[in-house]
This record gives sequence, structure tokens and C-alpha cells, in this order.
Amino acid sequence: MILKGSAHIFGVVGYPVKHSLSPVFQNKALEHLGIEGVYIPLEIPPEEVKEVILGLRSVENLVGLNITVPHKEILMEVCDTLEDHAKTIGSVNTLKFSEGRIEGYNTDWIGFLKSAEEVVDLKGKRVLMLGAGGAGRAVIYALKQAEAEVVLWNRTKEKAVALAEEFGVEVAEDIKSALETAEVIVNTTSVGLKAEDPPIFDYSLIREDQVVIDIIYKETPLIKSAREKGCKVQTGFPMLVYQGAESFKIWTGCEAPVKIMKLSLKEYGYPIDSPKSLQRT
Ligand code: ATR
Repeated sequence: MILKGSAHIFGVVGYPVKHSLSPVFQNKALEHLGIEGVYIPLEIPPEEVKEVILGLRSVENLVGLNITVPHKEILMEVCDTLEDHAKTIGSVNTLKFSEGRIEGYNTDWIGFLKSAEEVVDLKGKRVLMLGAGGAGRAVIYALKQAEAEVVLWNRTKEKAVALAEEFGVEVAEDIKSALETAEVIVNTTSVGLKAEDPPIFDYSLIREDQVVIDIIYKETPLIKSAREKGCKVQTGFPMLVYQGAESFKIWTGCEAPVKIMKLSLKEYGYPIDSPKSLQRT
């Protein structure tokens, strides 16, 4: 890659950020569309992140940043404008820099919807959503937008009750009975990230007719068990690409080359498409 002084800058801000796959597919998208730019990882500690981002307003060729854990909530405070989706979800994952001002957006929810659409039509479906953390807020917002019938379960029930009340959904009495009536199971907890994580429930209870979605971008034990049962499954990889594709559109005004972006992850050995998921692009 040859960069000239006229290059535009994009990036992802996190702490840590070493694990981020966004530079892989965002740089591929820029290259594919012939946009003169580079997408870089920026590892910034929480105590300094606001100050650094506010300072970056002076960088005239900086166009946009993705924001990841743990900065998504705190960086709402640096935004001059916030779109409604971000306000309701309570976090930003996309910042656009424009004439010294910062615009805040959230594309996680639409990323989830587009990814889920590949395996299931959520409208009217009974969805058991697991988890009530930060990631869960974007997913519950998306499920409501899709007019799914949501039942929420969380290890700490008070958090499920509070989130369910805010979004007007049902709380699961217990996970076993909620599983019986669920058509779709969505994991938004962090369980499965680490190999030693105990399962959230007994995965042998999953039925073949259930669709199982995990927003973690790896083949988690939940996804593995559901796949072995013969369920339609979706990992977090497509959501990752779609949220990035939406950010790309906000920054550049161009439709992102989603298929090329997915392929770039595949080239790195990541299992981006589930065997049973439909190829949409
Ligand atoms: P994120 O921003 O990734 O959503 P978070 O806000 O810390 O992270 O939320 C983590 C979610 O994973 C929570 O729903 C958490 O449940 P609690 O509210 O009970 O803490 C859930 N979680 C984490 N470890 C878990 C475990 N071992 N079993 C079940 N749920 C777990």
C-alpha cells in the first residue's frame, strides 16, 4: 500500500484493541473502492480517551472512528450531535469528524439485524435473548425494531428486569421454560469468549428447529452444540462486518463492499459464513 499526504484517516479506538479485526476489512473496503485512505487501530486508555478524541478534532484529514470496548458509553460525551439510535441504545460505536465537530452514531443494532436476516425473519418470532449488558442493549433495540417477541434472561435478574422494563419486553421466569417456547436464541453475554467459560445452560436442550445466534465472533460452544443439533446458526462475524459496513457508509457516503469485506476475513481463516446461512451478497 502506498500512502500519500492526501490520504484520509479512519480507525478503531479501544483498550485493548490488538484483537480487533476491523482494520482487516475496512482497509480492504477502502482499497476496493479506490478511496485514498487508511484505517488504523488506536489503543487509548479509558482515563485519557475523552481528551485524546477531543484533540483529534484538529486533525483535518481524520474522517471517522469506530469505537469499541470499553469506550462506547463514555465517548457519547464528546459528541456535538448524537443520532437517535445511539441515544436510545446508550452508546456510540461510530464517530464522524466534520469541520471540527463530532457526530455520534450506533451501527451495532443494524449490524445485528442484517446478520440475523441471513438466517431468520425475526418479525413475530419468539426470541430468547441472553444477557443484559452493553452489547445486549443494541441487540434488544434491534429485536424491537424487527418486531420480534422478546423474552429476556440474564444471570443477574434485576438487570434483566430493568432492561426489559425500559424496552417493554418480557423477563424469563427461568431459562428452561423460556427455551421450550423460543424459536430463536440470541446470546449477548460474554460467555464463550474464553475457552474455560462454563455453559450458560445445558446446550443439549437446544432443538433442531431453533435458530441460534451468538454475537461473539468465534465458534462458541453454544454455536458448536447448536450446529451439531442441525440448527441454523449465526456467529458474530457477519454482525461485525455489517456494523462496519454501516459505519463506512456514514463516513464515505459509499455503499460498503460487504462481500469483499467478508472475504477478507475468510482469507485470514475466520469462519465468516455458517454452512446453513444464506449468502445475501
Ligand atoms: P458487554 O459490553 O460485552 O455486553 P457487559 O456490559 O459487562 O459486557 O455485560 C456482560 C453480560 O454477560 C452480562 O449480561 C453478564 O451477566 P450479569 O449481568 O449477570 O453480570 C453476562 N455474563 C458474564 N459472565 C456470565 C456468566 N458466567 N454466565 C452468565 N452470564 C454472564
